Amino acid sequence: METNKRWYREVTNRGGGAYAVGGYVRDELLEVENRDVDFVVTGVPMDDLAEIMEADEYSVDLVGKVFGVLKATSPGGNVPMDLALPRKEISTGDGHKDFDIEFDHNLPIEDDLSRRDFTINAMAVNIGDNWDPDLIIDPFGGKTDIENKVIRTVGDPIVRFTEDPLRMLRAAQFAARFGFTIHSDTLWAMKWMAPKIQTVSPERISAELIKLLKLSDTPSVGLQILVDTGLMNHIIPEFMASIGFDQQNRHHDLPVDKHVFKVVDHASRRGFSISVRVAALLHDIAKPSTFSIDEDGNGHFFGHEKESAEIAKDIMERLKFSASEEFPRGGTDLVYTLIRRHLVPVKRNSTDKSIRRWMRKVGEPWIVQELLNLREADSFAHAAGSDIGGIEILRARVEENANVPLTQRDVDIDGHVIHDRTGATGKEIGDIKNRLLEMVVAGEVENNSETLTEVLQEMFVSR
Ligand code: CTP
Repeated sequence: METNKRWYREVTNRGGGAYAVGGYVRDELLEVENRDVDFVVTGVPMDDLAEIMEADEYSVDLVGKVFGVLKATSPGGNVPMDLALPRKEISTGDGHKDFDIEFDHNLPIEDDLSRRDFTINAMAVNIGDNWDPDLIIDPFGGKTDIENKVIRTVGDPIVRFTEDPLRMLRAAQFAARFGFTIHSDTLWAMKWMAPKIQTVSPERISAELIKLLKLSDTPSVGLQILVDTGLMNHIIPEFMASIGFDQQNRHHDLPVDKHVFKVVDHASRRGFSISVRVAALLHDIAKPSTFSIDEDGNGHFFGHEKESAEIAKDIMERLKFSASEEFPRGGTDLVYTLIRRHLVPVKRNSTDKSIRRWMRKVGEPWIVQELLNLREADSFAHAAGSDIGGIEILRARVEENANVPLTQRDVDIDGHVIHDRTGATGKEIGDIKNRLLEMVVAGEVENNSETLTEVLQEMFVSR
C-alpha cells in the first residue's frame, strides 16, 4: 500500500499509525472490488499531518479540516485520498443532528471504530502490515459477522441509529448488496425507529436508494426489508398500496409489489441504467389507484402508466433524486418518459410503419433502447413467463427501422382528420402532410397525433 512512502514512515516515526478502515477491509474480506479506500491516521495533529504530506510532495486540501479530514493527492495523481483523524461522536440529544463529532489525534483506532455503523464496517488494517486476516483490528467481531453473513450494529442499535437514522437504510442496502441477513436485534431496532428516517435529508435518502438499486443484483432483498421494517412507509408511502395487491388479471400471477420487485431485479441483473432501475421501481405505482374490474371479473388498470409517471415525478422531486451524482442529468424527465410509455404498443410482428411511428413518438434512439430495456424487465415478470425472445426480435426490428428516413406516411395524422379540420381534399391533404413532415423532420413539433392536430388547428385558424 503506502508503506514505502515517506509520509507513512514519518507518521510512524512520530509514534502514530495509519490504517485503512471501513469498507476497504470489508471488501477485501469479501473479495469484492473496493470502491474507495478511507484512511485514519492516529497520533499526529492535523497541521503536522498536512506538513508531512506536503514534505512528501502530496498536494493537500484542507476543506474538511473542521471534520478532521485531509485530502491528499500524490504527485502526478488525480484521485485524492482521504486521511481522517480518529473521531468520536458525542451525542447531545436524541436526533441524528444532536451530536458533535470530536476528532482527536490521541484517540486510539479502536475508539474510532466504535463510532461506526456495522461490525462489518468497523475493522481496520495497519497499512504497514501485509494483508493478513489475522492482523485485522476487529474489536466488534466483524470478521465473524462476514463469515456468517450478518449485518449487526456496533453495540446498541438504538444508539447507532439515533446518531444517524440513515444507517437503517444502509443496513437494507448492505443486506441486498452482499446477500446478508440483518441480525434480529438490529432488525428490531429498525422497526422501532423507522419513523426517525423522516429526520434525514431527502438527498441522503435518495442517494442510498440509488446505491441499493445500483450496487445489488437483487435490490428486492433490500426493498423487502424496507417494507417489512416500515421504512418504506416513510420513504415512499405511495408504494404501500401495492403491497399484496392482487391484480386479478391473467397476465399477472404476482401481486403488484412482487411483480415490481421482479422487474427491478431483472433490470439490475442485466446491468440496465439507473434510470431504468428507478423506472422499474415506480412504473406500476398507480396500479392500485387505477384498478377496475370488468363484468367477467378481470382486473384492469386503465391510464396507470400516465398516473404512475406523475406520481414517480412527485417522488423523485420530493426525494431530490437529481441531487445525486449517480443519477444522470435529466434523469427525472427520462424516468417520467419511460414510465409514461412503458406499455410498449408494438410487438415483434408489428408493421414497420407502426414501429417507426412509435419510435418517433418515444424520441431519440437511446431513449427507445432504454424503454426496450424496461419493457424486457417488465415482460420477464409477467405471468406467461418471459417473452425475452419476443423482445429480442423487437430489438432487431427497431434496429432495422432506426435509420429509415421519415416519409409522408410516417406523419402521425390521418387524412380524414386533416379533411375534418381544414376542409382540404385530395392533393391538398398531401400538401398539408408534407408541411407537417417538414416541421417534424426539423424537430419543430413532435410526431404524435395530438400535437399535430393542434398544429393543424393553428394553421387552419390563422388562415
Ligand atoms: N459510516 C458510518 N455511518 C454512516 C456512514 C458511514 O459509520 N452513516 C462509516 C462506516 O464505517 C463505513 C465508512 O464510514 O464503512 C465509510 O462510509 P461509506 O463510504 O459511506 O461506505 P463504505 O462502507 O465505504 O461502503 P461503500 O463501498 O458503499 O462506499
